Amino acid sequence: MNAGVYVHLPYCASRCGYCSFVVSTDASSQEAYLTALGREVDLAAGQAQGARFDSIYLGGGTPSLIPVGDLGVLLDRLRARLSVGPQSEVTLEANPEDVTVPRRDAWLAAGVTRISVGVQSFEDRELRAVGRRHDSARAREALRILASGGLSLSGDLILGLPEQTADSFRGSLATLCASGVDHVSVYLLEAEKSKSLEEDRRVRPERYLSDDAQADLWLEMGELLSGQGFEHYEISNWARPGRQAVHNTKYWRRAPTLGLGVSAHEFWNGRRRSNVAALEAYIRRLERGERPVAVDRVTSPEEDCAESIMLGLRLSQGVARSEIEGWIARRGDSRLAADYAGWWERGLLRPLGERLALTERGYLLSNEILCRFV
Ligand SMILES: C[S@@+](CC[C@H](N)C(=O)[O-])C[C@H]1O[C@@H](n2cnc3c(N)ncnc32)[C@H](O)[C@@H]1O
Ligand code: SF4
Repeated sequence: MNAGVYVHLPYCASRCGYCSFVVSTDASSQEAYLTALGREVDLAAGQAQGARFDSIYLGGGTPSLIPVGDLGVLLDRLRARLSVGPQSEVTLEANPEDVTVPRRDAWLAAGVTRISVGVQSFEDRELRAVGRRHDSARAREALRILASGGLSLSGDLILGLPEQTADSFRGSLATLCASGVDHVSVYLLEAEKSKSLEEDRRVRPERYLSDDAQADLWLEMGELLSGQGFEHYEISNWARPGRQAVHNTKYWRRAPTLGLGVSAHEFWNGRRRSNVAALEAYIRRLERGERPVAVDRVTSPEEDCAESIMLGLRLSQGVARSEIEGWIARRGDSRLAADYAGWWERGLLRPLGERLALTERGYLLSNEILCRFV
């Protein structure tokens, strides 16, 4: 499979209540960061000689905040140093408040082919509750601008936001489906990633949908999206036919991916590496001409097997039944074997010829299942 490259652009205008990504709201280091990133592209190119790339993913942070000229320079450098095919998917994560017609046109001119918009909700009350900078009208306007630009378009929603009701979630989903997107990502709120949200949910549970209500909505959402022509191809992702995210799918299929930028992760030649998570250390190490790697390890054959099951089960195409049953047999763990039989009985797994995959209910309980393959 062709390779992909992820680039982390950590700058944000402010920090949202639920976010635990490595981000900075102080842009004073941005110029030095982009210079360091350019150096990292050159260093990584040495290790990627001979590899063919068909996806670039500019994630964040808020890549749509980076001046378009700088993004163009970065993309040119990636294309000059790596063997990036002409039909490659080039994704940019954008926040609704940054989307304008001139920016859209400049992103297109720089070679961006796909935009992933962090909508989260179309309800102002919910957006305010987690400190988003946009309102519902701005999100609609951003999607309208992007949908008319000939780009592939994806929208993110979060299920479980404070102040969200079943009806407001249904409304957000229907609005997103009608906005011209060809890809939808819905994430269950991970409140534990933010101390203040976790505390708020404990103290004011009435602001949140119960776990059962969220589960019901999740199942209902699957039906709604499939009725609108979206295929559920990964736990959190739905796409119109042929519009699956090329880059993200590489993670679930364990294809080679470079990870550039502060805190970025990569999987290359059987090694998992991650960069330092501190901006200053990232910039300093590259000034010294080193790749700023914090962790670098070869994966073991047993780990490879477990990973390919855990990641493969996230996809609707599932994994080979022999792979999973062989792994369970080698473990010799009678509790795991009993749990596996229980997952079938509870309707969490479905057969797919020689393969097996999670059912919609299985996706809902995927944490319980996937953690058994660690
Ligand atoms: C890299 S993040 C943010 C990208 C962009 N800056 C934005 O704010 O939309 C990508 C997506 O992860 C999801 N996400 C981030 N933190 C989350 C959390 N704690 N729980 C659930 N989803 C989360 C959001 O839907 C977000 O759009
Ligand atoms: S804008 Fe996106 S990356 Fe930045 S803090 Fe908010 S959710 Fe996190």
